[in-house]
Amino acid sequence: MKKNVALIAGVGGMCGSNMARFLHQTGEWDVIGISRSRPEDADIVRHIAADLLSAESIESNLTDVGDVTHIFYTALLTGKDFTEENELNTRMMRNFLDVAIPKTPRLEHVHVLEGVKHYGYHLGEYRTPAREDDPPCVPAYFYEAQHAHVLKWQKGRSWNWSTTRPGAVCGYGNGARINLMTVLAVYGTMMKSLKLPFYFPGDDQTWNAITFASDVRILNRAMLWASTDPRAANQAFNIGNGNSFRWKHLWPHVASLFGSEPGPIKTMSLVEFMSDKAGVWNDIVHREKLKQTDLFKLAPWSYADTVFSRGWDNMISMVKANRFGFTEIIDTQDMMTEIIGDFRARRVIP
Ligand SMILES: NC(=O)c1ccc[n+]([C@@H]2O[C@H](COP(=O)([O-])OP(=O)(O)OC[C@H]3O[C@@H](n4cnc5c(N)ncnc54)[C@H](OP(=O)(O)O)[C@@H]3O)[C@@H](O)[C@H]2O)c1
Repeated sequence: MKKNVALIAGVGGMCGSNMARFLHQTGEWDVIGISRSRPEDADIVRHIAADLLSAESIESNLTDVGDVTHIFYTALLTGKDFTEENELNTRMMRNFLDVAIPKTPRLEHVHVLEGVKHYGYHLGEYRTPAREDDPPCVPAYFYEAQHAHVLKWQKGRSWNWSTTRPGAVCGYGNGARINLMTVLAVYGTMMKSLKLPFYFPGDDQTWNAITFASDVRILNRAMLWASTDPRAANQAFNIGNGNSFRWKHLWPHVASLFGSEPGPIKTMSLVEFMSDKAGVWNDIVHREKLKQTDLFKLAPWSYADTVFSRGWDNMISMVKANRFGFTEIIDTQDMMTEIIGDFRARRVIP
């Protein structure tokens, strides 16, 4: 069978690295990946080190990509505020496409990973469950400008585009990336070791609100489906696990994964709580013979503080993806059990 060739921008990240591994495991894809630092899975990817903020860096390093059939854009830079975040990410995407498109004559598809910030989840209450044809939030997140740039390049060309819009993406990821599961895994391990209850560190509103998660394995399969199934061409799709949950109902299950009692709500900043716990973590790593990790590079504590304080509903409709042909779902409780099991198998937690 003819091999497809993927070019993944942001290949070392949470979503990009899992996508690279998934495509490689199908046996039908060669994977080229771009990021500044070398990804953990460098052996399965042809890695191109380049800085997407610099057009010159991309121009000189993005070579031998003439066979690329599919682009997956998953790069992300967080800014000190949303204005800076929008500027950085819009610039990275423009620089990347402006160099990559002319160099990829066999291109069939450009997939851009978006998220529920399209609807304004980061700003406050939004219409739920979100539908793909709901208007983007105001002020728009950088996904809008990125999408406009894809449309500009697509004009007069034969390739198609698609986007997926997940919520909190859950799975293994290397480094303190936005990742709900590393937060839960390390926090749960820490509380157990300190013999403290598994407190819910967020506020009362977040405890009660409806939210959802997106298993990275489902997301990766949806990204592949959207990029290869003709029915999905030139469409955006919400992608989640297929169910929603409230922390107040899921928390006892998460506590049980660490052999802990679910604690009551104890609103606190995990950035502050963890600030003096590096020694505790190092002791756990040493005692349990875990993979060497740094408490502050392993889990994103400032992200944790935001995710446990967004006290409004966060819910998508997956009816469109379902109608167009993507029907995979997973129960979020089962997903949490499996992913915490994966972290244990990798010796990230005991
Ligand atoms: N994680 C989630 O829970 C989640 C949820 C919803 C939506 N999303 C969306 O999914 C997309 C991917 O997110 P993610 O969480 O996977 O991001 P991530 O883990 O932070 O990964 C970002 C990737 O981009 C690369 N990158 C950043 N700046 C770069 C630069 N200047 N030049 C080259 N590469 C650069 C990083 O590598 P280097 O730093 O080595 O360069 C890394 O490989 C984003 O659009 C995000 O909004 C994520």
